[in-house]
Amino acid sequence: MSLQPSFPLPSEIALTHSHSVSALIKEQILASGGWISFEQFMNLALYAPGMGYYSSGATKLGSAGDFVTAPEISSLFGRTLALQLAQISQQLKQADILEFGAGSGKLALDILLELEKTAALPQKYLILEVSAELRQRQQTLLTSEAPHLMHRVEWLEQLPDPFSGIILANEVLDAMPVHLAVWQDDAILERGVIWQNNQFAWQDRPVHDTDLYAICNQLTPRINPDNQSGLEYVSEINLAAAGFMRSLAKILQQGVILLIDYGFGCNEYYHPQRSQGTLMCHYRHHAHDNPFYLPGLQDITSHVDFSAITDAAVDSDLSLLGYTTQAFFLINSGITQILAQTPIEDTARYLPQSNQLQKLVNPAEMGELFKVIAYGKEFTEPLIGFSTGDMSRLL
Ligand SMILES: C[S@@+](CC[C@H](N)C(=O)[O-])C[C@H]1O[C@@H](n2cnc3c(N)ncnc32)[C@H](O)[C@@H]1O
Repeated sequence: MSLQPSFPLPSEIALTHSHSVSALIKEQILASGGWISFEQFMNLALYAPGMGYYSSGATKLGSAGDFVTAPEISSLFGRTLALQLAQISQQLKQADILEFGAGSGKLALDILLELEKTAALPQKYLILEVSAELRQRQQTLLTSEAPHLMHRVEWLEQLPDPFSGIILANEVLDAMPVHLAVWQDDAILERGVIWQNNQFAWQDRPVHDTDLYAICNQLTPRINPDNQSGLEYVSEINLAAAGFMRSLAKILQQGVILLIDYGFGCNEYYHPQRSQGTLMCHYRHHAHDNPFYLPGLQDITSHVDFSAITDAAVDSDLSLLGYTTQAFFLINSGITQILAQTPIEDTARYLPQSNQLQKLVNPAEMGELFKVIAYGKEFTEPLIGFSTGDMSRLL
């Protein structure tokens, strides 16, 4: 594979690491008879123990990494989210917080410090993180910035069962491995990966998984409403995210699940014109669409189909409490009041925060593409974050 000249060059060590990840995936392809699904490829590239992008040592988040998330942009994000969490916890007998995929630990830190100010700290702030390297970063950050709160923070190896309280995940669903489906003429195929001419290549084959086939079949009239032949349409199906919702529904006794991610409802996701899907890769702040580039050194993601997530949630006895854009959610929850706590005359502090607020809520940046969705169990109180701008009809 040739290196992309316009991207920053990897170090020798990073390149050697990527070659090892490629060798591991190639071995898996050969052991599986010459073909693996894209879901298996993505799983290995991101999560192969000690090797995958999220499991190995590379800096992923922030300016020295590959991409930036809302908690990394500004503490305003976590502090505002804390206002919503405080409202929820007032209604619950037991209101621990369980965060999935806590990244650098920045969101946990901002939430805990804000809840401390309003005397609304949870008994326990639990973190479930699949990446050993990120878990280490989270521990280092929280120990140095909030040592007095460490007795409340606990890292888990598996889902707590049962759990009551608030479950939180920012940009976790988009990092789950997806299947790639291809609609070609009248056939539905699964796009997988082979090793050919000393590199990874795509190869499509009939869909073997019955669940996957049923979902693709149901989507056919949506993506090809005019029943045109000759169409090649590729998109992602996230079975893992639906399974994740079912697992959460099973353990949650009482409380709220809050998910934040980029994506849309199924009409927009599987729009006939979105014929190349939403798969995206991030390497050192360059976004591109080649998942075979430097395996193990780049992030691979897809947008979230919030309709599929909601179907899985509602089928598992969760109720939809709200669905809106990040902009509406943050404004409804009180982001401008949080900003107003910094005096406008204090320009050195106020101006950077005001710019960060713009990034979080501006429709051309994160405000519109990112959505917030909430599900409840034994919880009916209207949530402040969804008081205006509800978009549930689009699911
Ligand atoms: C794009 S990063 C987002 C990190 C962080 N939430 C933030 O907003 O900065 C994705 C995170 O999800 C984690 N992750 C992916 N699948 C997961 C799963 N099934 N359970 C828990 N964490 C997961 C990754 O290890 C990583 O920490």
